[in-house]
Amino acid sequence: MKTLVAFYFSGTGNTLYIAEYLCKKLSSAYNCELCDITDTENYREKAVRADALMFAFPIYGSAPPIPMRNFVHVCGGLLCGKNVIIAETQYFFSGDGAASLGRTIKKYGGIIIGAETFNMPNNLADCKIFAVKNGGETQKTLAKAKKRADRFAARLLKGNARRRGFCALSHGVGYFSQRKFWMRNETAKRDKMKIYPERCVGCGLCAKSCPVKNIEMRGGRPVPSGNCVMCYRCVNLCPKKAITVLGTAPPEKQYFGPKR
Ligand SMILES: Cc1cc2nc3c(=O)[nH]c(=O)nc-3n(C[C@H](O)[C@H](O)[C@H](O)COP(=O)(O)O)c2cc1C
Ligand code: SF4
Ligand code: SF4
Repeated sequence: MKTLVAFYFSGTGNTLYIAEYLCKKLSSAYNCELCDITDTENYREKAVRADALMFAFPIYGSAPPIPMRNFVHVCGGLLCGKNVIIAETQYFFSGDGAASLGRTIKKYGGIIIGAETFNMPNNLADCKIFAVKNGGETQKTLAKAKKRADRFAARLLKGNARRRGFCALSHGVGYFSQRKFWMRNETAKRDKMKIYPERCVGCGLCAKSCPVKNIEMRGGRPVPSGNCVMCYRCVNLCPKKAITVLGTAPPEKQYFGPKR
């Protein structure tokens, strides 16, 4: 049987959920292995021996997360001639989210055999304009995403999967509606997170769970180092709702991920 390695980045669980689901649906043709790109050793060997690769990631302002973009460049030389599947998750809109990473993969010689976007629950808990939902409130969204994944996987197995976002119109819409503005200030945003000292109890969960080790505990207090990649994991995990990243006030409600 062929092997598929699914490299994923997931701040709050949505992308992992979809990557896992797709792997299950593709298991009649592939032995699938899920690999968190922030916690993966031997990624080179894994990529070299795989018959196909999947890149799964959430979209931020119509752009892939910094760790995923960096990972593709690090793997670049291994992608030539490889079959690649792209799975992108979003709250509701990205324009060309899947293709935004797909174009880079193509430049390295990767063959995109399918690219799809999946609408998932919102995780931007400190932005009041977007509602945060959990549990039963997310069931409709998750059921729709799974249906789309069923169709996508079935077409991948037949060899005629769609490559969403690759047309010029989607490219223009994704770039001019969001990515251009997002990328312009992305570096400045990395230093914007705020930890409210009056709320924090020094439990260390944020530091322990940050996928890029942006937070360090010093003297029992969490201290960010300015390298946040805006995944929102700590914002949604903090037991005291003491963290904001892009918002201006601590979250009223947190997102607990698709499995709760
Ligand atoms: C910083 C940030 C920016 C986001 N930008 C967008 C966006 O432009 N469009 C969109 O539909 N969703 C956007 N989202 C929502 C996430 O892409 C979505 O909830 C995703 O499924 C989260 O995946 P994860 O749980 O694997 O991290 C954004 C989320 C964050 C944290
Ligand atoms: S998770 Fe929250 S309460 Fe715990 S150390 Fe971090 S900011 Fe403080
Ligand atoms: S500091 Fe928080 S939001 Fe930033 S990368 Fe780490 S866990 Fe994600």
